[in-house]
Amino acid sequence: MKKLLDSMIDYAKKRNVPIIDDPTKQYIISLLKTRKPRYCLEIGSAIWYSSVIIAKEISKWDWTLVSFECSYPSYMKALTNTKNSRLLNMILYFGDFLKFSHQLLPDQIDFLFIDAEKASYLDYYLKCKPFLHDESIILFDDVIKYKQKTAPLIHYLDHHNIPYEHKQLVDDDGVIVIDSNSSFRTG
Ligand SMILES: C[S@@+](CC[C@H](N)C(=O)[O-])C[C@H]1O[C@@H](n2cnc3c(N)ncnc32)[C@H](O)[C@@H]1O
Repeated sequence: MKKLLDSMIDYAKKRNVPIIDDPTKQYIISLLKTRKPRYCLEIGSAIWYSSVIIAKEISKWDWTLVSFECSYPSYMKALTNTKNSRLLNMILYFGDFLKFSHQLLPDQIDFLFIDAEKASYLDYYLKCKPFLHDESIILFDDVIKYKQKTAPLIHYLDHHNIPYEHKQLVDDDGVIVIDSNSSFRTG
């Protein structure tokens, strides 16, 4: 698995495909290990680097990742990477997440990782909202680097008193996490 992940990092560097950095990877793994979510959903798979990391972790308690990617070259590369990973607990859909029928979404979403078009973060969140529950964990990547583009999401969370936490994981970037089991409050 390490060999596959290293080859994905090399490919991403050569082709300028943005993938999660190491601190974000470690943060996701620690969240998954502690909370053991079942139904996981990812928006923005790219070549499936973060997807393989999530799927590998949740395979330990036999659960599934559903992921969406709208770039055809990335989707094709992701299919090869899936095959090489030998993980069987991943479903990858090709296309714009916002155009998919709600029927393709799991009945409930325990862990949601949003890492696609930054300006659409609020739209993704609202589309997933009917499937989220009190214990769901939601992670939005790159929210510090793309502060302006993700402003509508922050505005919505503040306006609706939805508690979230900014986690600065690298010098110039980080994630927002919504996790009712955490002790944080809006900030
Ligand atoms: C930052 S990359 C994802 C990186 C990946 N999560 C990782 O860390 O390995 C963002 C991806 O989101 C995809 N994307 C953007 N808008 C999308 C949409 N509306 N539906 C599905 N995928 C989308 C882009 O094609 C791109 O590959």
